[in-house]
Amino acid sequence: MDKIKSYITPRNLLIFNIILIILFFLFSCVVDEEEGFFDSVTEIENIISPLPEYSPVPDSNEMSAEKIDLGRQLFWDPILSGSKDVACATCHHPDKGYADALDLSIGVGGIGLGEQRIGNIIAGRNAHTVVNTAFNGITINNQVNPLDAPMFWDNRTMSLEAQALLPLLSKEEMRGVTIEENQVYDIIINRLEAIPQYKAAFQDAFGTEEITTDKIAKAIASFERTLIATNSPFDRYMRGDASAMTDQQVNGMNAFINVGCAECHGGPMFSDFQLHTLGVPDNPKLPETDAGTGTYAFRTPTLRNLSLTAPYMHNGMHTSLEEVMDFYEEISEGDADMINTHLSINNIDPLARDLDMDDDVTDAIIAFMKALNDPNFNRTIPTNVPSGLLVGGHINN
Ligand code: HEC
Ligand code: HEC
Repeated sequence: MDKIKSYITPRNLLIFNIILIILFFLFSCVVDEEEGFFDSVTEIENIISPLPEYSPVPDSNEMSAEKIDLGRQLFWDPILSGSKDVACATCHHPDKGYADALDLSIGVGGIGLGEQRIGNIIAGRNAHTVVNTAFNGITINNQVNPLDAPMFWDNRTMSLEAQALLPLLSKEEMRGVTIEENQVYDIIINRLEAIPQYKAAFQDAFGTEEITTDKIAKAIASFERTLIATNSPFDRYMRGDASAMTDQQVNGMNAFINVGCAECHGGPMFSDFQLHTLGVPDNPKLPETDAGTGTYAFRTPTLRNLSLTAPYMHNGMHTSLEEVMDFYEEISEGDADMINTHLSINNIDPLARDLDMDDDVTDAIIAFMKALNDPNFNRTIPTNVPSGLLVGGHINN
């Protein structure tokens, strides 16, 4: 006791304090060196953020149980396709993350589901998942106008409502060669009107039996707004559950931001919804090069649920996340070997060329992207559709 006391002299206390101060500065330097380690959720939230728990809904298309139900029936019913063999669900199937697991979708005349699907007519691009498309266009501040939500790899149409009718017109996806584009809507409306169950369902959903393309689109869009998954480990971590992500995933999240991925893959959907030229090589299955809107720029895709939606990129040319990371590494090193032969390295978006890639963090970034998976979306498959046709089209080979 006495001995201890004797140490606490004013002079010793001063020395002790000086040591403390030195230690403090040393420690802060060490922390500073771990440049840009975001350990506060508030800092990260300005760059990447959790999804809201509800879909944004436009005033002009409020949701109702009846409308959602009708939308689900239409989504699964191949009656909407020219030769009655393809439904939306053929290429956007819950067992395949509401995509189709193919590099390029196989449309009319095809048989089978996902990797098993065979057929000669390919839709020119990789199918997006429909899960969370309700949030397309959302900004970091959760601003989103569902009527102005970008759709497709080239943002060529806005809103789920406007998108829903386009596959019907597409010769490769649903129309086929038996009917002309300008006949599609009349033929489909006639077919639906001949089915009493549909007349009743339109009556329940919209208050009148009359069937129009506007109502078809609204019902499908309402159904799609129920297909959301907003509770990934990342979402839970950001909402306060510090144990929701592993240490490796937290490191990966920091690396994702520091390397520069979030420059394009930012916000709650991990997309800026802008077009960027990465120079992904052409898919050799296509008869000609796909330059998108002319500059080989495609929309930044969401990184949510990637484990369910391989292969990747607008033409499915990358089969794994490892391959995607290799590709970014090459670009950032100024190496043109892996890019589209129609482009030179200077055509590639500077934000991709400026990525600060580092082999040491690749695994962590991949682990972080897996923290963006939430497989708990609605996977209900109807047992039958009002037309009596095959549920989901010819998906059983
Ligand atoms: C033959 C396969 C096929 C069928 C059938 C099909 N789609 Fe798609 N879907 C695709 C492909 C491929 C894309 C990407 C096309 C592009 O971006 O150019 C896509 C894109 C979409 C998108 C855009 C998502 C986004 O984030 O931009 C939505 C929404 C969608 N489809 C809904 C539907 C609906 C609703 C139907 C039925 C009316 C349907 N699809 C029928 C293959 C298909
Ligand atoms: C310049 C903007 C930009 C930057 C920076 C960027 N990406 Fe991308 N990312 C895109 C675009 C655009 C695509 C689609 C390109 C295409 O299909 O042609 C894409 C595609 C992807 C895909 C495929 C997703 C799918 O569903 O097909 C993954 C995974 C991905 N990026 C991860 C990353 C990671 C990880 C980083 C950082 C190392 C990163 N991205 C940096 C814009 C960017």
